[in-house]
Amino acid sequence: MKKYEQDFIEKINYIVNTDKYQRLKVFIHHGKTSIYEHSLDVAYHCYEYAKNKKNYNLDDLVLAALFHDYYLYDWHDKKKYNRKGLHGFTHPKTSVLNAIRDFNINKNVQKIMISHMFPLTLFHIPTSKEGWILSFFDKKCALKETFCKKKYN
Ligand SMILES: [Fe+2]
Ligand SMILES: [Fe+2]
Repeated sequence: MKKYEQDFIEKINYIVNTDKYQRLKVFIHHGKTSIYEHSLDVAYHCYEYAKNKKNYNLDDLVLAALFHDYYLYDWHDKKKYNRKGLHGFTHPKTSVLNAIRDFNINKNVQKIMISHMFPLTLFHIPTSKEGWILSFFDKKCALKETFCKKKYN
């Protein structure tokens, strides 16, 4: 794991170190990056951006970032995981439902997560600062992962 600030580690450890969350390591997301690495990277970017700003719900933002892609299947393997609907449109909802089931996330975290694919999911426009920040850093990290040939740390 790359070197993270202690405060960030304390915020995420009780989730990231569970067997349930560790499952994200086996699913590749973009390029050579697992969903686990992607989610931690997005969470850290969100944390870094918002940690010293007033009026941000930092805990909910970090949680939403950790769970935004908690859909728990390999979206490249269309035969094995024959989902109803296109992954890009459906996975925010799937991730919310999985995170409620496994970690009982609160309503605000759900709300931040559900709009992270905007503008692809036109009907789920971010409704909070945290929602916009997650959507922005998710795209930034995904672009880096897709176009970076070498796996980044
Ligand atoms: Fe996503
Ligand atoms: Fe993502």
